[in-house]
Amino acid sequence: MKSLSTPHRHRGKLIIVEGIDGSGKSTQISLLSRWLRSQGYAVAFSEWNSSPLVRQTTRRGKKKEMFTPTTFSLIHATDFADRTERYILPLMRAGAIVCADRYAYTAFARDVARGVNRQWVRNLYSFAIRPNIAFYFRTPLDVALSRILGGRDALKYYEAGMDLKISRDVEESFKVFQGRILQEYEDMIEEMGFHVIDATQSIEDQQKQMRAVVKREIGRSLRTQVLRAPVLEQNPEHASGAR
Ligand SMILES: Nc1ncnc2c1ncn2[C@@H]1O[C@H](COP(=O)(O)OP(=O)(O)OP(=O)(O)O)[C@@H](O)[C@H]1O
Ligand SMILES: [Mg+2]
Repeated sequence: MKSLSTPHRHRGKLIIVEGIDGSGKSTQISLLSRWLRSQGYAVAFSEWNSSPLVRQTTRRGKKKEMFTPTTFSLIHATDFADRTERYILPLMRAGAIVCADRYAYTAFARDVARGVNRQWVRNLYSFAIRPNIAFYFRTPLDVALSRILGGRDALKYYEAGMDLKISRDVEESFKVFQGRILQEYEDMIEEMGFHVIDATQSIEDQQKQMRAVVKREIGRSLRTQVLRAPVLEQNPEHASGAR
């Protein structure tokens, strides 16, 4: 399998987080990037589905239910390619630490859960840079569901997979759809070399484990290789993306 199997040779480091909706990814990656920044490293942040090139299209298409699973997949890949070439790659070349909230694995899990061919979607992302560290937040569905509903009133149409017409009941649909995504993530652990974090633990415990992994995996090159900078401002174009 070609996709994401070759280590990159850039000076910078790429750290990504993955997991189903509500697994705590954003919470953890933001704590981790703040920690790295506080040590004087140049840290940049990248979010899934945030490229200005396709944001409007995604929004409009979602509203009108214009996408098929394949066109959805292609749109996300376009978004990701734009972000890779214009944002992630230059930062990696410059030696920054890029922290990404969701990465190509989100497409591998979601698009396959929507019925897209596994190998086809992996091939589509063969240009992606292999992360130095990929964290996967393992979360039971009911935990994810209660965290999402604890933060807002209702599940979103696409996060519940309502477009797939699995069930007219939103919670039921969420469980089936996110259950499929969960299974795809589980099946990727070995293939992609995920560091599995038990996401039912406290925020602090998870963060401790992540920092230990970072020290172990890239501690040496952090001291010798990575760009240092007081603060590397977020690129405003990429700062606020939808999921
Ligand atoms: N370890 C934890 N224990 C309890 N609640 C948590 C924990 N981690 C995060 N939360 C809470 O769960 C909710 C979802 O967390 P967060 O937004 O970080 O998840 P996410 O994986 O980024 O979700 P999404 O995929 O929807 O962006 C938030 O309200 C957050 O405060
Ligand atoms: Mg999030």
